[in-house]
Amino acid sequence: MIDLFSLKDKVIIITGATGLLGSQHAEVVAEAGGIPVLLDLDQDRCNQLADKLKQKYSVDAIGYKVDITKEEEIIDNLSIIKIKYKYIHALINNAANNPKVEDSTEKAFSRLENFPTAVWNSDLAVGLSGSFLCAKHYGFLISQNPAGGTILNISSDLGLIAPDQRLYRKAGLPEELQPVKPVTYSVVKAGLIGLTRYLATYWADKNVRCNAICPGGIENNQNEYFLKEVISRIPLGRLAKKDEYKGLVLLLLSESASYLNGSIISADGGRSVW
Ligand SMILES: NC(=O)c1ccc[n+]([C@@H]2O[C@H](COP(=O)([O-])OP(=O)(O)OC[C@H]3O[C@@H](n4cnc5c(N)ncnc54)[C@H](O)[C@@H]3O)[C@@H](O)[C@H]2O)c1
Repeated sequence: MIDLFSLKDKVIIITGATGLLGSQHAEVVAEAGGIPVLLDLDQDRCNQLADKLKQKYSVDAIGYKVDITKEEEIIDNLSIIKIKYKYIHALINNAANNPKVEDSTEKAFSRLENFPTAVWNSDLAVGLSGSFLCAKHYGFLISQNPAGGTILNISSDLGLIAPDQRLYRKAGLPEELQPVKPVTYSVVKAGLIGLTRYLATYWADKNVRCNAICPGGIENNQNEYFLKEVISRIPLGRLAKKDEYKGLVLLLLSESASYLNGSIISADGGRSVW
């Protein structure tokens, strides 16, 4: 059974790879014997993570500075990847602008009535258009792999439910200055669910599966008020630890999920069922 979970020698592209969750995806790929290809905005951070994984797991990790909002950067990177590896096995669409409004000091920008169009465009460019561009190019290369492969989209519990804006309130502020979770987060994360269903059928004849996970919030030094309020809305009574999605990611990337396609999997301690 355990071999079903192996990613041995599988080349796996991870966007936003040096972030909080991206580095966990990279760890699990390396731990299972795969080759993590780390894409993010800063070459030094990509190199540092690749070096760490190489040392820790003796795998051929590599990092590239690729801004996924720029199609020409993806195309250039794809040609390097094709020469180096010929085929790839998987793509994790993980990168997103991730505004932490619960600890924001800019209180009014997030409100819908003030929300800058430039921020709307930037958030959609990374989370949604970036995922489309990666699916278009890296996904196509996966479809040419004779063994097939898989695409994993990182959505959110907020792709399934609306944000409860009461969580983000700041004492003493008038209503019109209260921060909120930006509209773009809901739109990007729901959009990824649509992209998942589209891709699950698109290259199915080439054995390319596509699934999405909808993680809940991760413990990351949030303020006391937010923590108390949010955990009261989660049946398990706590946020996730950052390494708690590794098992699910491994399942979905590996052959153990060979018949999972088009699945939208909530992993939120039960928050979205309450
Ligand atoms: N942290 C959470 O609580 C949580 C919960 C649910 C879902 N998610 C989702 O998980 C994913 C990762 O979240 P995180 O908490 O690790 O965020 P993070 O901000 O730590 O990491 C995001 C990474 O994406 C990179 N990035 C941003 N724009 C990019 C671009 N144009 N091209 C390439 N890389 C780019 C950033 O540099 C960063 O390293 C996101 O999609 C997020 O929405 C996170």
